Amino acid sequence: MDRQTGPYQRILLKLSGEALLGAEDYGIDPGVLRRIADEIAQVLALGVQIGVVIGGGNIFRGAGLAQAGMDRVTGDHMGMLATVINSLALQDALERLGIHARVMSALQMHEICEDYIRRRAVRHLEKGRVAIFAAGTGNPFFTTDTAAALRAIEIGADLLVKATKVDGVYTADPMKDPAARRFDRLDFDRVITGKLDVMDTTAVVMCRDNGLPIRVFDLTRAGALVKLARGDDIGTLVQAVA
Ligand code: GTP
Repeated sequence: MDRQTGPYQRILLKLSGEALLGAEDYGIDPGVLRRIADEIAQVLALGVQIGVVIGGGNIFRGAGLAQAGMDRVTGDHMGMLATVINSLALQDALERLGIHARVMSALQMHEICEDYIRRRAVRHLEKGRVAIFAAGTGNPFFTTDTAAALRAIEIGADLLVKATKVDGVYTADPMKDPAARRFDRLDFDRVITGKLDVMDTTAVVMCRDNGLPIRVFDLTRAGALVKLARGDDIGTLVQAVA
């Protein structure tokens, strides 16, 4: 693809499973899924290649199941399967918009989707397909945030885009503390030492060590993802400060 007009050639979008809940208590809100697919289609139309990692928290969350007494590894396996369900739903929503998408799973399930093979993933992206990376890293004890950092680094993304329900990183939870301030820019180390709620520490350290900037933004604001892909300075940018 040579239509790229903005600063990014390739981005990795991390969505939480909860982002798909919308008005539902459990599962997937079809309207929300359609809107996200539509925004991804607009990003592609800018000539930006896009990979996606989705969490599974709208269906099962391994850590939560473990707290309730379940074996942690079993809980994480259930969480990984939940990410496959969400990934298939997004693939379907994209295909209904005429966008080519490929789910690539870290766990083998050939009847359902492709295996994750890095070189194939890059080929899909170069052909203008959306690569949706499912089943986390394929290992228990790793979050889908870490899977997103790993896949972003592997595919050579220019930016890791972390979708949340607030428009960036704040000094405190803005839902609870009206005095909370939003950061425009943050250094990786400040995120790690300040225990700022961006992504889990493993994910942030991987991004820091591999020079991959993270932008945290509010996915619930219509058009935000497209603006960001165009290079607009929205949300919070986490990067190395010299
Ligand atoms: P190119 O080789 O770049 O043309 O990619 P492609 O994905 O279009 O070609 P391929 O012939 O590899 O795949 C054709 C279709 O089969 C695509 O929809 C793939 O997602 C799908 N596919 C490929 N491998 C698997 C697999 O192991 N399991 C499942 N379920 N589908 C697969």
